[in-house]
Order: sequence, then structure tokens, then C-alpha cells
Amino acid sequence: MAADGETMELDPREFDSVTFQKDPFPIYRRLRDYHPAFHDRFHNRWILTRYADVDAAFQDNQSFDRAIYDPDGDYDFGSRHIFGPNILEYGNSPQHRWLRNIVAGQFVGERLNVFLPIIDKIALEVISTFEKDGELELIRHFSSQFPIRVISNMLGLPREDEEMFVRWYQALIAGLGFGGEHLARGIAARNEMWEYLEPLIEIRRQNPGDDLLSRIAVAELEGKRMDIIEIKGFVALLLAAGGDTTDKAIANMWYHMLYTRPDVLPEVIADPELWSNVFTEMMRYDAVVHAQFRRTTREIPLHGEVIPKGASVILYLGGGNRDERTFKDPDVFDIHRDDLHMGRENRSGRYKDGKPGHLGFGMGPHFCMGYAMARQEAVIACAHLAKAMKNVRPKFATHPGITSPSIDSGGFRSPNELWIEFDRA
Ligand code: HEM
Repeated sequence: MAADGETMELDPREFDSVTFQKDPFPIYRRLRDYHPAFHDRFHNRWILTRYADVDAAFQDNQSFDRAIYDPDGDYDFGSRHIFGPNILEYGNSPQHRWLRNIVAGQFVGERLNVFLPIIDKIALEVISTFEKDGELELIRHFSSQFPIRVISNMLGLPREDEEMFVRWYQALIAGLGFGGEHLARGIAARNEMWEYLEPLIEIRRQNPGDDLLSRIAVAELEGKRMDIIEIKGFVALLLAAGGDTTDKAIANMWYHMLYTRPDVLPEVIADPELWSNVFTEMMRYDAVVHAQFRRTTREIPLHGEVIPKGASVILYLGGGNRDERTFKDPDVFDIHRDDLHMGRENRSGRYKDGKPGHLGFGMGPHFCMGYAMARQEAVIACAHLAKAMKNVRPKFATHPGITSPSIDSGGFRSPNELWIEFDRA
């Protein structure tokens, strides 16, 4: 139930407040308790926040569609998106399943294992640039550098071009959530990147190697390959979907170890396998992505309301992850909790151990394609960091905390800065 002093009433303008950006959890709780199917008339949308409802909506792709692109409508594929044409624009369609089937296999199992040495090498390389003992800002010096360099290396791009790729990435991410100049710079960076990629894609098609760009360039399903524009759109999407999210995940893991549960950090440092638990609990407690959008394709009766056909719906996975109907003491960050599936993600969201999974990667037909890669990257990076820095501690006793989108954040939740002190191991 809502905490003392909280009311049932909810003014939708609260969603636009700084308070909500910084700490959305009290509002999620009021929504779960009093308005489980909330009609936000001010923003013209519906909001779901209970674990069971968010999970069910993710799984029911037929009724809750993600499509922006409509092959029979006036929307030109990729035209309004900074990435250009990409899988996020497809909803419940054969095109989505085709694209997903052609690329998803590259990021799991044996194919992912081939890339693990790259992840390992890049983590150590970035750590080796830490200039002096004493202090550093973890996001600037590590987490914002590492995943994008991993992707560039996985794609098999020349190492001397890596800095350029990092610059394009930064411009694209800044352009993602914000209009005006940021958007214009983001689109210019994307076009430059596309120009750079095009001849490389042609070369890989004729003479493929084992890198990710070659694999995507020649992958075939039902006798068809992705065309050049689809490949370029997918690479652009990879930077945000795979780079920025993982960057923020690593920052959030360290934030929680340094400020939320410093008492647990020594245990995790002593047993690096526990970084995997830290990852899972971070994805539940304060996931990098809190909201996903859907459009209803039929009337949905729910909790005494009827969500009309064609309505915009926000699925607050950040709210579902804190649902006390599913998790005991949901507001406690506990890496040993026994009511959350702590192992690797399972696409169906149903586990043999009967425990629910976190909603941080979504669920169902659009479940994150990079779930295994993100976990591997985050766990490997955190273990290397912990080994390289002895006696690691926050530089400042207090921290403004994790926050939702601000300029240059790309729309994902994370701390803006994370200063740490350490002794070189
Ligand atoms: C911790 C890091 C990550 C988080 C929090 C995250 C989060 C998510 C979420 C919530 C979705 C569901 C979207 C929806 O239901 O509409 C999603 C989809 C997706 N993710 Fe991730 N992701 C992460 C890492 C990655 C990585 C490393 C890749 C690269 C391979 C990736 C590629 C994708 C793609 C391509 C989709 C669209 C899948 C589809 O529509 O079928 N993500 N991600």
C-alpha cells in the first residue's frame, strides 16, 4: 500500500516533474495500488505498472503492438528515426520475425562465445588507460568507452577508426532523445557513419570473415539477405541498444555497490561470480530502461477500465519490477533474494525454478536480443575493474543518485557521474 502521506490522487503533470525523474518509485507504487490501469488524460495515454500486467502486455504482442512502421500507411520506414530503418519500427509482423531470426542468433550461445575474448581484451585495454592511482570518474573513463569499443571490434572495424566510431556514437546518443541541434548533429554523424560503412559492407559480402559485420552481411533466411540500408540501420541501432544500455548498466551496478549496498561490495569483490547477481538485481531494482511503449489493437478490459483500441500504452517495467505482489521487500537491493530468478535470462520469462524474472529486458516477442551479451559484458567488465582497483570507495560521501533522461543521457536511467577513489592493485 502507499506509504504514509501519499494520496490516491495522481496529477499526470507529476510525470513531467524533476521529482519523478529522480525517484519514480513512489508514483509507481500509487499507480500499482490505486490506478493499476491509469488513464493519463493529460498526455493521452494509458499506464500499466503491476508486474503481472506489464508481463502479460509484453507477451501479448497481438493486442499490444509496438509498430511505428505501417506497410499500408503513410509512414516511410526509418524516416523519422535517428537510426534509420531498424527492427524497433516493426511490431507484430512477419518482417519483424524475419529480421529478428536473421540477427538474434549472433548474440547468444556459441556465436557470442567467439566474441568473449574481445570483451575481455577491451576491458583490460580501457582499464590500462587509467592514468594515476587515486581517483577517476568511472563513466567518463570506463563505462562510456567500453561497450562501444567492444561493438566496433566485434564488427571487425579497423582499430585505427575506433575513435571515430566512438565520436559518432556519442553524437548519435545525444541526438536520440533530444530535438534541435542535438538531433541534427546525431543525424549528421549517422550519415557519416553510413557512408563509411557502405563500402565495408560490400567488401564483406564478397569476402566475408568471422566478424559481426560479415556475418550480418551474408546471413540469409528464407532465401533473402538484409539489404544495405537494413544493415546500416541495424549497426546504428546497435550503438544505442547495445552500447548505451550496457554503458549505463555498468554504471548502475557500481553505483549500487558503492552507495546503496556498500556493505555487500567486499563480498562481491571476494567472489567475482556475484557480479552476475548484482547485474540481475540491478535490472530489477532500477533497470536502465524503465518504460516501453505499445499501441492497443483491440479494446482491453482491465481492472474495471476499458483501454480502447488504438490507445497509447506505457508499460512501466521499472514499476513492475518493484511490485510487492511479486517481490518481497521490493525496495531493498538484495543480491541474494530468493524470489527472483538469479540465473541467466530466459526468453519466455518462465523459469524451471518457478521464480519470476526481472522485466528489465522486456518479455516475449520483442525481448532484448542482446540479453546474453549485455550480461557477459557487464559481469566481465565489473570483475576486471574490481581486480584492478584495490580498496575502491566513493570519492564523495553523498551522491545525487540515479536519474532519468537528461541532455546527452540518451534516455536511459543512470548516474550522471560516478567518482571513485582506489589504490592500484
Ligand atoms: C543492459 C543492457 C540492455 C538493456 C537494459 C536492454 C533493454 C531492452 C529492452 C527493455 C528491450 C525491449 C523493447 C520492447 O519490448 O519494445 C530491448 C530490445 C532490444 N535490444 Fe536490448 N537491452 C540491453 C542490451 C542490448 C544489447 C547488448 C543489444 C545488442 C545486441 C541489444 C539489442 C536489442 C534489440 C535489437 C532489441 C529489439 C528486439 C526486438 O524488437 O525483437 N540490447 N532491449
